[in-house]
Amino acid sequence: MTGPVLAVDQGTSGTKALVVCPDRGVIGTGFAPVTPRHGPGGLVEADPRELLASVVDAGRAALADAGEGVTAVGLANQGETVLAWNPADGEPLTDAVVWQDRRSAALCDGLAPHAPELTQLTGLPLDPYFAAPKMAWIRRELTREGVVTTSDSWLVHRLTGAFVTDAATAGRTQLLDLDRADWSPRALEVFGLGAERLPEIVDCDAPVGVTTAFGPPTAVTGLLVDQQAALLAQSVTEPGTAKCTYGTGAFLLAQTGPRPLRTTTGLVSCVAWRLGGDTSYCLDGQVYTVASAVQWLTGLGVISGAADLDRVGRTVPDSGGVLFVPALAGLAAPWWRGDLRGSVTGLGLDTGPGHIVRALCEGVAAQVAELAAAAAHDLGTPLTTLRVDGGLTRSALLMQTQADLLQLPVEVSALPDATALGVAAVARLGSDPALGTRDAVPGWKPSAVYEPRIGADEAAERMGRFRAEVDALLARTPPAA
Ligand code: G3P
Repeated sequence: MTGPVLAVDQGTSGTKALVVCPDRGVIGTGFAPVTPRHGPGGLVEADPRELLASVVDAGRAALADAGEGVTAVGLANQGETVLAWNPADGEPLTDAVVWQDRRSAALCDGLAPHAPELTQLTGLPLDPYFAAPKMAWIRRELTREGVVTTSDSWLVHRLTGAFVTDAATAGRTQLLDLDRADWSPRALEVFGLGAERLPEIVDCDAPVGVTTAFGPPTAVTGLLVDQQAALLAQSVTEPGTAKCTYGTGAFLLAQTGPRPLRTTTGLVSCVAWRLGGDTSYCLDGQVYTVASAVQWLTGLGVISGAADLDRVGRTVPDSGGVLFVPALAGLAAPWWRGDLRGSVTGLGLDTGPGHIVRALCEGVAAQVAELAAAAAHDLGTPLTTLRVDGGLTRSALLMQTQADLLQLPVEVSALPDATALGVAAVARLGSDPALGTRDAVPGWKPSAVYEPRIGADEAAERMGRFRAEVDALLARTPPAA
């Protein structure tokens, strides 16, 4: 039996850390904020030193809160955020180009003839969201020096000296051969990255080194990209089950089992995790702006913050005909139109803040419902429920709207920090080879279940209105030639 582990979730707007004990659950928590910068041309950057400092600060705060040591450390990461750095001294050579950054869009346009081949090889559509276009863009625009990797490889190097990435994070690059779960020489060639020094791809539960960043030397035994960590924490381990995390964006992942399932609907097919040499795969769909859309409404003064969504939304019975397509950083799966701007339509002199809030909830929920329908189509079987986690699951208005539009029960995770708990599970697996996945992952027990309160006809009618609005938006904005 292992002792407590330190699980660190390095996210877009902050780092959360938990000390998780196999018997007593979470015994310590820590948090350190991170402030990405937004700029013209789709720039979204973060200071790598701030990312590292937030990992150390949050980890130390959690340990101080727990008041006891740990036997292992696990690290979850943002997935598609990349930077160049010097492997000799670990110093960053660029800022971290965050997953939402769109500056590699023109590079993707130039590679468009290779898009079908890349998707076939890697399971990912060609889009600036993924790591490889950003890596190639850094090489063209910023620096030829050092190595260019996803942020996990740099953080782990700074913590332990190792040069690694886990199979699931590698699956977010568009450089991973999906069937072999190894770097694809052809994809590297297409992106002009054939000469790069790449990190070794390791199992998510592989011991990769020892860190003294949090106190006494401690083994790092778990690495996993954040959405997949939440998938594991929510026990979405059986093919055909799914979860959605409502964070900066919303990310719906459906488990597909030991073989990759080629999507026909525009979702992403990728590695869920590789544990003890066994690879599991999943389908993935994204809504790029959820908490960031809420933040945007807050900036406009419509609400005072995420906690205010329900109060303001409940001042009116419905959205009053207002439609909000919250494509504030473009649309991801299944449309893949990152260049689109959001829209709010149907405004009148009688429109108030409550209508806008309800329209935002409806727009997010409708996009997630589209992703769930696409996943069910690819799986060949309808979803029976959706497990959900993330800060915005605290909005009963959003969750009820989600259940209504999905026409499925929405089960809210009792674990507010599912991502950290998922990486705690892999860190435990990595530090005790005798454990099986079921021993390490907490059982699924939702804290609340939202059942649909509207009929199928009304749900279809509301989904139809949202789709028509997206179609109108697409028609108004033809793709760049
Ligand atoms: O794909 C990016 C996503 O995983 C980032 O999640 O929690 O940092 O907003 P989060």
